Amino acid sequence: MNRIVLENCGKINPEDIEEYIGADGYEALGIALEKKTPEDIIKIVKDSGLVGRGGAGFPTGLKWSFAKSAKKSPKYIICNADEGEPGTFKDRLIMEGDPHRVLEGMAICGYTIGANTAYIYIRGEYRLSIQRLTKAIKDAEKLGLLGKNIFGTNFDFNVKIKIGAGSYVCGEETALLNSMEGLRGEPRLKPPFPAESGFLSKPTNVNNVETFANIAPIILNGADWFRKFGTESTPGTKVYTILGHVKRPGLIEVPMGISLREIIYDYAGGMSSGKFKMAQVGGTAGDIIPSALLDVPLEYQSLQKLGHNLGSGAILIMNETVSIADFLTCCMKFFAHESCGKCSICRIGTRQIYEAFKRLGKKDAYFDELKTIKELADELKLTAFCPMGQSVASPVLSALKYFGKELAQGVNPDKKHEPVTRENHNIVLNYS
Ligand SMILES: Cc1cc2nc3c(=O)[nH]c(=O)nc-3n(C[C@H](O)[C@H](O)[C@H](O)COP(=O)(O)O)c2cc1C
Repeated sequence: MNRIVLENCGKINPEDIEEYIGADGYEALGIALEKKTPEDIIKIVKDSGLVGRGGAGFPTGLKWSFAKSAKKSPKYIICNADEGEPGTFKDRLIMEGDPHRVLEGMAICGYTIGANTAYIYIRGEYRLSIQRLTKAIKDAEKLGLLGKNIFGTNFDFNVKIKIGAGSYVCGEETALLNSMEGLRGEPRLKPPFPAESGFLSKPTNVNNVETFANIAPIILNGADWFRKFGTESTPGTKVYTILGHVKRPGLIEVPMGISLREIIYDYAGGMSSGKFKMAQVGGTAGDIIPSALLDVPLEYQSLQKLGHNLGSGAILIMNETVSIADFLTCCMKFFAHESCGKCSICRIGTRQIYEAFKRLGKKDAYFDELKTIKELADELKLTAFCPMGQSVASPVLSALKYFGKELAQGVNPDKKHEPVTRENHNIVLNYS
């Protein structure tokens, strides 16, 4: 049985708080408030080895310790439920299937770091999640599990919902803070990190939905129990959304460290048609993984050793009918559209790479197009202002690394650059 995060999903009625309580719900919060100090909780979360499930894989206990030791007050908690990564819908199903589990994790975090106010930043399209969370908050308040004097202690914790307008970059934690404050959704310079200066310049702890959903079981069962799942370096499970050419696409929760091959053939029923060609792991900003890497353990450390990342949890499986140039054209169209425009390399670089892949797909690319793409991707990785621009390099560089030969077929050796003149220097942004 692999389920930690999804253990109640499909079993209890997510709109009935009594059913959550009947499944040991809010017991971890009671234990935390009555029997544990904030320091105890930080130690348990650190010992569990839990790392954030929002994409960056930062150790959760360490993050909480930074927010706890921040001096300014009030402090805030934000649950990042923006989930803008194409192909990722795990957080939506967690919130729809077990909203109280997320709220309980947030309340435990609030007690630990000394925050009494929390927000769930959620995209407007997630109507059912918003509806269920709103009901869950009201029901928990009625029973004294949220709101004032929780469990009869002097701990108050209020959760509010903030609806985002669906910009991809607003999932990045500092752009999210800007959006929360009614500012333009652009990333902020780090440092200062949100733990020191976040929402309204106050200490703020931002965690992903799945990260919060792991907290109550860790407090209830202990760090050693959690470490029995997954690998030594990345304990626990991971919720993935599986898409593409597989027989059973959908949502799975599996131990950290299982391979792509196991995911495709043991969990997703195998290929629905054709032969496996490649997978994109981690959403549109994820790396392209070829068949030679089908057996690499999917967890942060093993992938990092190969220069790859686990990302948000979307896995897109593609067969041999998919052209790498056409696929990258789609990815880059997305990035060119979503770039907030704050830094030039992201604003212009994503557009130039998009145009280049489009030409490669039409087999009409400039003789030096692959070199130009590589230079732009390297520059994005090194100099883009925020992790969005930097992450654009992942699909591009991995595609060049593993599918360079196929991409080279799109180059027209006779196509040379024309000298730039006032007449042909067309910078009109046309996405067609
Ligand atoms: C472009 C971009 C989009 C992001 N979108 C999300 C998102 O939708 N949800 C999320 O939890 N983290 C997202 N992140 C990561 C957050 O910045 C942050 O690392 C995360 O919310 C921290 O939570 P965690 O430590 O629990 O993973 C995004 C990052 C980038 C660069």
